[in-house]
Amino acid sequence: MKVGILTGGGDAPGLNGIISASTQVLLKNGIEVIGIRDGFEGVFKGETVALTQNLISGIHKSAGTILGTSNRGAINGREQEFLKKFKSLKLQALIVAGGDGTFRALHPLRNEIAICGVPKTIDNDLSGTEITFGFDTASSVVADAVNDLRATAEAHQRILFVETMGRNAGWIALGGGLAARADAILIPERPIPFSKFLKFLSSRRKSKRSFVCVVSEGAFVQGEKPKVALRVKGSPEEIRFGGIAESLARKCEAALDWESRHIVLGHLQRSRSPTATDCFLTLGMGVAAAEMVLEKDFGRAAVYRNGRVVRAPLEDLMGPTRRIDLNHHWIQWAQKLGIYI
Ligand code: F6P
Repeated sequence: MKVGILTGGGDAPGLNGIISASTQVLLKNGIEVIGIRDGFEGVFKGETVALTQNLISGIHKSAGTILGTSNRGAINGREQEFLKKFKSLKLQALIVAGGDGTFRALHPLRNEIAICGVPKTIDNDLSGTEITFGFDTASSVVADAVNDLRATAEAHQRILFVETMGRNAGWIALGGGLAARADAILIPERPIPFSKFLKFLSSRRKSKRSFVCVVSEGAFVQGEKPKVALRVKGSPEEIRFGGIAESLARKCEAALDWESRHIVLGHLQRSRSPTATDCFLTLGMGVAAAEMVLEKDFGRAAVYRNGRVVRAPLEDLMGPTRRIDLNHHWIQWAQKLGIYI
């Protein structure tokens, strides 16, 4: 048997953990494993690499993906060409680590290609799983940044706005902000009532020299829209958010005469070595994906539910974006601590 592995969409710390865990199990069972380069592009171009024990040794602890990935070059409208090229690779099954865009693109070919999926995104917003790998690492980058930035904020008596990734879901901002006990956490799920926020800042100014606010890239002021930084043609989700931290810094400084700065953490959130938690998760999911191949249990994904890695239909990953419920206990924790949210 010959099995392929493909990583699709934006990279997330832990992809190499999936590649190594799945490959190791399959090799142990005498199965040849072929890595496909650069997501779907590798199928179109026939670019592959034989995954050997040597090649995967030690990769689980590095960010990125040794195979490369792409969130452009979708299959849409080219399904038959994709299928023809895929067949020429002579693979009996394909393990795919990707986001909803990757699985939606493959959906029309579900009867022709035997797929085992693993959900991936730092945003933690995929339906069908309670957590995705990469999220813990991205949140740790945010928490470390907030903890570090306090020193300069305090020295200069400034407000610092720290912008995180996450698209339309505030998980990274909330997770990282809570871990570092930020002073405020602004998420897309709760549009910002600007004058109320200003009042909170004014009241804090009486007792605090500095203020560190984590703001998710998709957050927006009530009555406005999220700030769009650019559009990427050919990407399943073309919009890239960005600019809310800078905008808030300027507005708050002008309104309160409290010096303000902003920082955008950007791709640092995707490039750190995976945390031990993410390494555990990718180990569990990678092993589960390989087991699905061995049992020929196709059209399913290794997801995390109720504290365990379990199997679920691939369709479960294609539901609506999993955003933060405003009654979520993380929000209640923030409120109990007096963090503005
Ligand atoms: O979905 C993952 C993510 O990192 C988002 O949080 C972010 O908005 C986007 O991808 C950035 O994409 P790109 O790397 O194409 O700029």
